[in-house]
Amino acid sequence: MKQSGTIIPEVTQVKQPALEPAKLSVGGKAIDLQVTIGTEQEKAIDITRLRDSTGAITLDPGLGNTGSCTSSITFLDGERGILRYRGIPIEQLAESATYLETSYLLIYGVLPTRRQLEQFTTTLMGRTALPQGMERFFDLLPKTAHPMAVLSSMVQLLSGYYPELTNPNPTAQQIDEVILTLLATFPTLAAYGYRKGRGEPVVPPRKDLTYTSNYLYMMFGPQGGKPNPDEVLVQALRQILILHADHEQNCSTSTVRLVGSSRASAFAAISAGIGALWGPLHGGANQAVIEMLEEIHRSGADFSKVLAKAKDKNSGFRLMGFGHRVYKNFDPRSRILKAACDKVLVRLGIQDPLLDLAKQLEEAALKDDYFLSRKLYPNVDFYSGIILRALGIPTEQFTVIFALGRLAGWLAHWREMLLSPEFRIGRPRQIYVGPTEQKYIPISQRD
Ligand code: CMC
Repeated sequence: MKQSGTIIPEVTQVKQPALEPAKLSVGGKAIDLQVTIGTEQEKAIDITRLRDSTGAITLDPGLGNTGSCTSSITFLDGERGILRYRGIPIEQLAESATYLETSYLLIYGVLPTRRQLEQFTTTLMGRTALPQGMERFFDLLPKTAHPMAVLSSMVQLLSGYYPELTNPNPTAQQIDEVILTLLATFPTLAAYGYRKGRGEPVVPPRKDLTYTSNYLYMMFGPQGGKPNPDEVLVQALRQILILHADHEQNCSTSTVRLVGSSRASAFAAISAGIGALWGPLHGGANQAVIEMLEEIHRSGADFSKVLAKAKDKNSGFRLMGFGHRVYKNFDPRSRILKAACDKVLVRLGIQDPLLDLAKQLEEAALKDDYFLSRKLYPNVDFYSGIILRALGIPTEQFTVIFALGRLAGWLAHWREMLLSPEFRIGRPRQIYVGPTEQKYIPISQRD
């Protein structure tokens, strides 16, 4: 990261050969539509002129087939189970990188040099304390508030301490500053929310620890007479944060882009992203998986009943941690986490019956035609909760950990969008299917 305020350019796009335009005819009006091709050969039909030329828009509920932007941050191939940040396979980053190195890569497009990483880390770890006076606001929140509600509120509140960083047209230096501010204070906000929610005194951040270590330290304080958190826990959490760091245009990242596209501040955009992530179909699934496994455990591990309920459309129940909009063969993050689960539990000397249950449930589901025919496989949330339990993280904090990891991706997308020549306020259209014009009837004439 450059502290001088100059922007490190995005990775140069590789020029692709032009494809024949797509031909479309709507109500007798024909139009040629440009075809854009990405560096991994993904094709998109550019429909920006469609309405002007034909009067028609495209309709795609759930946006499953709609590209809202071009992006050079993350590549995902759901058929082949590939996930790469700036071209680097997730497996390699999960194995060897630090979370801040991964964040730098996602945000600035290149792996930092040793000196850049040192500077980035030192600057960031020097800014982890909350602004003076902010801590008292945690005491005003109801103890029953969900940690995601607390986190989202506190991120919004943070903007009050940095009015200059809410500039709708931020300079390059302000973009760097707000990224640094949010990355540095986010773990502190998360850990303070946890401790204050339990009525416990906060544990202030330490500059001498790593990003991940410092978060665990602020959550639990010194453990077993040791000043620093256990390295097994730190490494397991590091891996979880990296695996969650970005996932291209998912629900929360699209929310961050959409809110940011109105030129609301990064604080407002990230706070909204936290709200989107909270839902059980998205990041909230990690909490829901453990609650589901606990329920199965309590009720005697009858998988057939659980699977039957998940298949029954009237039950309102889904197999949590299963299925994905994009991955249709396997989720590479889930594979890494399944293997990590075994290792972490062995190294911590923990035997968790929920891990065996999860494996048996996966096996049962993957023999069932309902799940096979719909290509429903375990996703990132299926095994992450078991590791988080082993680390001593309470279930209702799981989605906060997801947010902690995803913050780097949200900031990378927010920055990319602001600096893109494509920048435009996000404003989808709709097809209206309500009543056609009708007359207002005064209340006196109504029943
Ligand atoms: N259990 C039972 N049935 C399912 C499940 C599930 N977990 N997921 C999808 N289906 C069925 C769904 O009912 C539908 O069946 P049909 O074709 O007969 O109507 C079919 O599979 C396609 O489902 P969909 O809802 O159209 O798929 P989607 O792409 O809109 O939804 C999803 C993706 C992840 C929201 C969904 O699979 C789901 O609800 N999974 C459980 C929640 C979960 O684990 N979420 C975490 C996602 S990964 C972390 C993240 O990035 O957020």
